[in-house]
Amino acid sequence: MALVLNAFNEDNIILASKYIRDGKLVAFPTETVYGLGANALNRIAVAKIFEVKNRPNFDPLIVHIANKEDIYNYVEEINEDVLRLINEFWPGPLTLVLKKKNIIPDIVTSGLDTVAIRMPANLIALKLIKYSNLPIAAPSANPFNYISPTTAKAVLESIGDKIDVILDGGKTQFGLESTIITFDENNQVILLRPGALEIEKIEKLLNKKVIIYNKPNILAPGQTQHHYKPHKELIIIKNLTTTNTPLLIKKIEKELNLNKLYFLLTFKNDYLENFKEMYKLDFVIDYLSQNNDYYEIASNLFEKLYIADKSDKEVILVNEVLKESLGLAIMNRLEKAATKTISIR
Ligand code: TXA
Ligand code: MG
Repeated sequence: MALVLNAFNEDNIILASKYIRDGKLVAFPTETVYGLGANALNRIAVAKIFEVKNRPNFDPLIVHIANKEDIYNYVEEINEDVLRLINEFWPGPLTLVLKKKNIIPDIVTSGLDTVAIRMPANLIALKLIKYSNLPIAAPSANPFNYISPTTAKAVLESIGDKIDVILDGGKTQFGLESTIITFDENNQVILLRPGALEIEKIEKLLNKKVIIYNKPNILAPGQTQHHYKPHKELIIIKNLTTTNTPLLIKKIEKELNLNKLYFLLTFKNDYLENFKEMYKLDFVIDYLSQNNDYYEIASNLFEKLYIADKSDKEVILVNEVLKESLGLAIMNRLEKAATKTISIR
């Protein structure tokens, strides 16, 4: 079983950094989700990450650094836009896919000639990297395709028996992974994965459109159709409003015909509480946000999905959000996790 260490004690971060230097696996908090870290320059340590996660070797890892300047050690071509982006958004949830230097082992990048790199904005993560004095390769600390962990508990319960250390730094801030971008040959910005940094902010800084890239292929390996999946059935509910809530009950009776449901909603909906009483439905209703705040929804999403998945309910229903700002990343995760979508209309 992993050694769980309180990350608010500096000595524990130092201890964890020794594990990294020894080629061991350390789960640690970032501002997005928990990462499963290893020395990015140690092939064997990196191979263990793939083994523990049951991750296919075509799905490359992100390299985490603690100083912006370290990008020069690992990346070949750094253009003006890259400099502007890292000055503005690092440390933070932006991952850049750029030409790699030879020092980065092929196993990290799945044989690609590019590397994904970011500087996280979490003090514990930054200290772990600094004390290790190494770049840390880290995917999200969950089994491949499962819900990403936003708490140390979720890491412990899913892969705790296969790793060495978990640095417990509490719940992560954003709750959604970083935004991943790259550049094409015309220096256009290509979005490989929507995430915690809104693309609108990138567009504003660079004064150019971000091209949304959603065909899974060599440019975006690992962005598979089914990802972030709970074990249970997950259904996205479209067009649910407080006024048409009665229609939801009808839909459930007609289309789903299930007696046990677990609800996760994006907004506070008093009607639902009433209908639950009226129809004697066996629901658990939980709110991703009290007031449709996308930051709050994002930070709760994986945690509540995880709780729902562990509960005794059979189906998870999640209300859709608009695909703008953080909503783009929220819906990207939900659509990959969902088994189907129903519309209330
Ligand atoms: O917020 C995050 O990004 C978290 C924390 C731990 O930093 N990490 C994370 O890693 O989400 P992971 O492994 O779950 O997702 C990384 C994704 C890969 O699935 C792949 O799609 C993309 O990054 N990626 C990595 N290297 C790439 C490359 N060279 N070219 C294209 N995509 C790459
Ligand atoms: Mg992941």
